[in-house]
Amino acid sequence: MQKFLQVFIAYMGFLPEGEYSASLHHYEILKNITSHRFASKALIRSYQKSFNGFAAYLSEEEKQKLAGYEGIVSVFPCQKLHLQTTRSWDFMGFPTTIKRSPVGESNTIIGVIDSGIWPESESFSDEGFGPIPEKWKGECQGGTNFTCNRKIIGARSYIVGDSVRDTKGHGTHASSIAAGSHVYEASYYGIAKGIARGGVPSARLAVYKVCGAFCEVRDILKAFDDAISDGVDIISISVGQDHQVDITSDPIAIGAFHAIQKGILTVQAAGNAGRLFSVTGFAPWIFSVAASNTDRRIINKVLLGDGSVLEGTSVNAFPSSQEEVPLVYGRQVTSICSETEASAGCLDGSLIKQKVVICDKNNNADLVKEAGALGCIVPNHGRYNYSDVGPLPVAALGINDMNLVKTYQNSTKKPQVQIFKSQAIYNPAAPLIASFSSRGPSKFIPDIIKPDVTAPGVEILAAYSPMASPSESFIDKSSVNYTILSGTSMACPHVAAAAAFVKSFHPNWSPSAIKSALMTTAWEMDPSQNLDAEFAYGSGHIDPQKAKDPGLVYDISEEDYQMIWCNISHSVNASCHAKFPLRQLNYPSMVARVDVKSAFVLSFPRTVTNVGDANSKYVASIQGDSKLNIRVDPNILQFTSLNQTMSFVVTVEGKGIKSPLTIKSGSLLWTSDKHKVRSPVVVYTGNASTSSGGVSTPSTFCKTYVILFVCIIIAHCI
Ligand SMILES: *[C@@H]1O[C@H](CO)[C@@H](O)[C@H](O)[C@H]1NC(C)=O
Ligand SMILES: *[C@@H]1O[C@H](CO)[C@@H](O)[C@H](O)[C@H]1NC(C)=O
Ligand SMILES: *[C@@H]1O[C@H](CO)[C@@H](O)[C@H](O)[C@H]1NC(C)=O
Ligand SMILES: *[C@@H]1O[C@H](CO)[C@@H](O)[C@H](O)[C@H]1NC(C)=O
Ligand SMILES: *[C@@H]1O[C@H](CO)[C@@H](O)[C@H](O)[C@H]1NC(C)=O
Ligand SMILES: *[C@@H]1O[C@H](CO)[C@@H](O)[C@H](O)[C@H]1NC(C)=O
Ligand SMILES: *[C@@H]1O[C@H](CO)[C@@H](O)[C@H](O)[C@H]1NC(C)=O
Ligand SMILES: *[C@@H]1O[C@H](CO)[C@@H](O)[C@H](O)[C@H]1NC(C)=O
Ligand SMILES: *[C@@H]1O[C@H](CO)[C@@H](O)[C@H](O)[C@H]1NC(C)=O
Repeated sequence: MQKFLQVFIAYMGFLPEGEYSASLHHYEILKNITSHRFASKALIRSYQKSFNGFAAYLSEEEKQKLAGYEGIVSVFPCQKLHLQTTRSWDFMGFPTTIKRSPVGESNTIIGVIDSGIWPESESFSDEGFGPIPEKWKGECQGGTNFTCNRKIIGARSYIVGDSVRDTKGHGTHASSIAAGSHVYEASYYGIAKGIARGGVPSARLAVYKVCGAFCEVRDILKAFDDAISDGVDIISISVGQDHQVDITSDPIAIGAFHAIQKGILTVQAAGNAGRLFSVTGFAPWIFSVAASNTDRRIINKVLLGDGSVLEGTSVNAFPSSQEEVPLVYGRQVTSICSETEASAGCLDGSLIKQKVVICDKNNNADLVKEAGALGCIVPNHGRYNYSDVGPLPVAALGINDMNLVKTYQNSTKKPQVQIFKSQAIYNPAAPLIASFSSRGPSKFIPDIIKPDVTAPGVEILAAYSPMASPSESFIDKSSVNYTILSGTSMACPHVAAAAAFVKSFHPNWSPSAIKSALMTTAWEMDPSQNLDAEFAYGSGHIDPQKAKDPGLVYDISEEDYQMIWCNISHSVNASCHAKFPLRQLNYPSMVARVDVKSAFVLSFPRTVTNVGDANSKYVASIQGDSKLNIRVDPNILQFTSLNQTMSFVVTVEGKGIKSPLTIKSGSLLWTSDKHKVRSPVVVYTGNASTSSGGVSTPSTFCKTYVILFVCIIIAHCI
């Protein structure tokens, strides 16, 4: 009887030392559990360069057998993950004139695991680049008609028969944000014109294509296996799930764990689900990045026949209409359908031709264009605080303005409207966390603040694939070299670049030291303006210039990460018994979940390393909610040499927090005459089961977000 077979990943932890053939071992294990078939046909991939494991076709029964097998850490289904888009660098005080470390930077290799890259883009020109760093052990296997250069030094595709060439645009966009060369006068049809540039324009790129039609877990793991052994310095991965999974079934947590054991920092997008308990990249060894806006917004205006001017959120590159055109309401322009069906796209072409249509949903633009309309006015649902590209002139309006337009249309004999081309405006209220940015904490690891930091992820102009539609619409055949995208996908490569920038000055710093430097120097965000406080923005907004010289760092060793892995789940090694509570991990932020109405006394032992001036004195100060009594002992640290470490304990006491789902924030600030080293200290109540219907935006967001733009959502599993 033919059983239903599914792809499963068997993760086996570290590679054993000495002579060992992983693929032979995998084959033998499979031979034992797949008695009825050829084991060689079951085995899809062996992971054997950087960690141990394999992907195989198995029945549910065989999977159960395998899970109990000696040496197997976890067995989980091969799911499909999602892709999670330049003013941004200037905004964070990082001008083109910033002092750089040219040798360090050109020696830094950023591995981008995404949808590939458009190698001919001007952003990846290697003009003026020196030879490829000697440490590089990877290859250029880009496939047909794909050539690497001194900027793109590595390319691998895991999609059978597909070159590394990017047909989606997502990977090209992310890569150019991280390490794109300077491109002058870049714009999207004149909108947001300026210099398009990556954070580390002299750094090298190694491209790992895991997303074709889907991004599959087995390919993501293989990309990590290769990237680690190829010798990248930093991994940027703007891919994730819209719900949290346990780290032993999370390919990115597994890959990043082995990466950090080899001194490689993994930066991951926090996700675009917008809700509490949805953040991804919550393993302590991952740098998880939220998205916020910058001081530049893109808007477009709408003029109604009665003279009122409304402000919409759209990247509308179509020329402003020169005259007013008739305005109709979608529900009313159908001769064949009911009003409800009409609003879902059953439009009558003859009634909307050369007119602007008011739509009740914001995912109907394709249908409206196909039916021959000149443009459409759609609701932005109030939550979409970003503008995106449509396949025809679109104005996305808030609920009040939407009602105004409907009332006007219904109260006039010949309603008329004009939609204007978008423009960039100054946005004084920046940075604010984007409503779509996934919120922490983790339901699996509650005692860690995630995301870690925020970076620009709203309306980012960067390079694109000319084969991809800028509106991600099947009827939009336009082709561009640069476009504007929003998402935590765009925030992630900003942080990867910032980490590369810090590393270019401090090539010997550990990944955790680099992450600490970016966290403790981050701009403080205003909790009154940002729903969900630290669970929206972590330690704050990155400031790469400051992070270069953080004064003190909170370092974490490979062994400590192994202990944490032991605590969180099973062993990655044969044995691990040590007790290691997460609060003892030397993390640069501190958090604990407590029960409602119970008094608490929490202690966080920490150790800092002096990387500022040999002789320096740091004094602790505490800010925070009056409900939290935070103490530091000792509260003065007197250093006499570089690399000297000093330990202290942060104690947080409280009489109890009255209500569920409450976040009490404070912070610990170490100040010397030159440096400020800040760590958020958070105590909260609540868990994933209490948060349903909770504080943040509902999950419907991602559905529409998908249809509309950037995060390319794919149905689950095989
Ligand atoms: C396969 O099963 C046999 C018999 O139970 C056992 O001796 C052998 O060690 C197993 N092979 C592996 C790779 O586990
Ligand atoms: C290689 O790809 C580029 C970009 O798509 C295209 O313009 C060119 O014609 C291709 N060359 C060949 C030989 O296929
Ligand atoms: C969203 O946009 C509105 C209008 O521009 C603004 O008032 C509000 O503060 C924005 N919210 C966020 C989170 O950006
Ligand atoms: C249009 O106006 C009429 C009369 O004022 C009202 O009954 C009707 O509900 C309105 N229709 C819409 C779609 O607002
Ligand atoms: C895009 O870039 C190519 C060169 O890579 C150039 O030939 C083409 O004109 C550019 N397109 C636009 C719209 O600028
Ligand atoms: C785990 O295995 C690695 C590699 O074999 C080794 O270096 C490390 O010491 C082990 N750690 C523990 C906690 O056993
Ligand atoms: C794991 O951490 C928790 C708290 O974070 C602690 O109570 C527990 O003892 C730890 N377990 C082990 C095995 O280290
Ligand atoms: C501090 O440690 C770093 C990294 O281990 C090392 O490169 C550097 O030489 C040390 N500096 C001093 C002054 O000991
Ligand atoms: C989650 O919170 C609810 C209400 O406070 C509580 O009853 C439940 O035990 C909590 N669940 C866990 C896993 O802590």
